[in-house]
Amino acid sequence: MKPIRTAVFPVAGLGTRFLPATKVVPKEMLPIVDKPLIQYAVDEAIEAGIEHMVFVTGRGKDIIEDHFDIAYELQHTMEVRGKDVSILDGTRLKPGKSTFTRQQEPLGLGHAIWCARDVVGDDPFAILLPDEFMHGSPGCMKQMAAAYERLGGNLVCALEIPMEKTSSYGVIDPGKRDGAITEVKGLVEKPAPGTAPSNLILPGRYILQPEVMKILETQEAGAGGEIQLTDAMAQMIGKQPFHGVTFDGRRFDCGSKTGYIEANLALALDRAEMRDGIREMALRLLNE
Ligand code: UTP
Repeated sequence: MKPIRTAVFPVAGLGTRFLPATKVVPKEMLPIVDKPLIQYAVDEAIEAGIEHMVFVTGRGKDIIEDHFDIAYELQHTMEVRGKDVSILDGTRLKPGKSTFTRQQEPLGLGHAIWCARDVVGDDPFAILLPDEFMHGSPGCMKQMAAAYERLGGNLVCALEIPMEKTSSYGVIDPGKRDGAITEVKGLVEKPAPGTAPSNLILPGRYILQPEVMKILETQEAGAGGEIQLTDAMAQMIGKQPFHGVTFDGRRFDCGSKTGYIEANLALALDRAEMRDGIREMALRLLNE
């Protein structure tokens, strides 16, 4: 079985839920405590053994490319002032191991992934949505890569949420369940309230076979008028193995303001040097 060497990060969305913050700053560059969302996603991919990072960007997203480059002036000035520059180590991707390609119009997640087709080629690949912040050890993609070694085919991360919230997500029609692995019998994007086949949603981590690119080539717009990855994946079920993997860790929906604030609080509370101050501050605010 071919190992997963390439990860695609779709970062071309408009981020309208975070306006005006995201008018100029890409949503994927918003920080959780002190590290941008996109860097957490890249770190997660690297931890899973993935070597090549493909960013599907759009206009106004150039600072993502800069973030993963060397910042000579910053580094030099810090060194002259005797400051520790090792904090920047994780921001430099290996030479030749990243590709930036543009989705010229935000026509949907499926279309964004299709824009990476030439870079992905004929190999299986991973997809990580950076605004879905998956926090755990091992990381979500590493857990999925381990499942992939056993199962092959196509894998999606699967997450249980309250039934009444399912209409905002891609939802799994589940088959047999064996521990963390669930057979996927069907997929539906943003089902109308009361029609979801389960409360198992897709929180933005995938390992897919390259055939999905052929399907995306002719995929028509679906829910919300966007070309949906879920609709293309649904067509692969029955032709190739398809499973859901339940992530052992914490998930924060950082595409929503509440999830974003929660992630910041949770990670700040995880930091020994911040914990006491944050607890004291949160309790004070709650009692005001
Ligand atoms: P979202 O729907 O959460 O992001 O897409 P958005 O459209 O930027 O946000 P809102 O709803 O307007 O606030 C999930 C991921 O897919 C990317 C986004 O950048 C985000 O990382 N995406 C979405 C694309 O790259 N292209 C698209 O056409 C749509």
